[in-house]
Amino acid sequence: MIIKPQASQLGRFATPYYYYNEELLQQTIDSLKQEMSKDSRYVMHYAIKANANPVVLKHIQQAGFGIDCVSGGEIALACQAGFDPKLIVFAGVGKADWEIETGLKYGIGCFNVESVPELEVINQLAKQAHTTANICLRINPNVGAHTHANIVTGLSDNKFGIDMAHMMNVIAMTQKMEHTQLIGLHFHIGSQIVEMDDFIALCNRINELQDGLDHQGIKLKIINVGGGLGIDYDNPDIHPLPDFKSFFAVYRQNLQLRDGQELHFELGRAIVAQCGSLITRVLYVKDNTNKKFVIIDGSMTELIRPALYGAHHKIKNLSSSKAAETYDVVGPVCESSDVFATDISLPQTQRGDIIAILSAGAYGETMASGYNQRPLPKSYTDNDIMAE
Ligand code: LLP
Repeated sequence: MIIKPQASQLGRFATPYYYYNEELLQQTIDSLKQEMSKDSRYVMHYAIKANANPVVLKHIQQAGFGIDCVSGGEIALACQAGFDPKLIVFAGVGKADWEIETGLKYGIGCFNVESVPELEVINQLAKQAHTTANICLRINPNVGAHTHANIVTGLSDNKFGIDMAHMMNVIAMTQKMEHTQLIGLHFHIGSQIVEMDDFIALCNRINELQDGLDHQGIKLKIINVGGGLGIDYDNPDIHPLPDFKSFFAVYRQNLQLRDGQELHFELGRAIVAQCGSLITRVLYVKDNTNKKFVIIDGSMTELIRPALYGAHHKIKNLSSSKAAETYDVVGPVCESSDVFATDISLPQTQRGDIIAILSAGAYGETMASGYNQRPLPKSYTDNDIMAE
């Protein structure tokens, strides 16, 4: 069950807030570890941008995963949460000097470098800090993905990574640098990918690139394929767990790792999306001539995905079991895009009903904003809710 408490229990807390089902999170992690245990060369760095809630991080840490960061703030948070800095990797096209210095200060495991000028700055700052930075080159593989255009990252028009045509030259540059140590290649083609063929295309590209490295006698310890595995937003009750089996089978069957190489992953969404729901309350039901609006107290400031990407999250009225009606579910923020769903079927709804927006554990709480001077959302788990 995605949401364990009853509406009456959920309703005792001020809404809107995030509810996290820790049991589902742990089941998801267990099923992921089960698949990963089939190959001792696999290493997971959880993409903390998906969800940095302390409850989530506690489970991630107990699982023994490292952390994939994209900012100095995320590095500091992960270190303060107790993660081993050696298990932290740092990607991003625009790493500021202070962020690189933060990574050097903590002694993180690897910088995923996205351009030549960035490589030069890291080498320079590492020199000043009397240290050597481990680096992977993030290569743009020019591989597309069947997902929302805003979350495709691996095409040559995207801002991410080093053009694969430049890879050999950049590797040659790293070999002359004294304060960087090249340990691998990094890739990430996009997010919410459910077509395994996209990951197969990435494997094929990496195989080609590795053939080129073999010819030059270059050996690298790490291939990092990023994250991107999608989840079922339409039927979270039927598929609360992602298809980790197919995901890892793709890499086992299609990627040719070289002797001694490790395969690193950076899953975010697949681990945390289904365990989180945004719990809201109905403020008003407005009956217009051509539409019925359910106006809830949750908005795009707590969950921006529908407004930003047109994303669909399943919505449930946990308080009503009356006959179904057709509604638009909207938030109170002064933006026409503050809409969670149009023309959906919900049991007849009234003021005070508890409405849950499902599959909101990934890129929900972390993307919250204070627009309209709204407070950032709080979060509760079953322990908090059952204790009331
Ligand atoms: N590694 C890198 C380098 C990334 O850029 C990302 C996500 C990940 C790993 C984790 O990807 P995941 O396994 O979560 O798909 N806010 C958007 C998603 C943005 C993803 C950004 N990068 C959304 O709400 O759909």
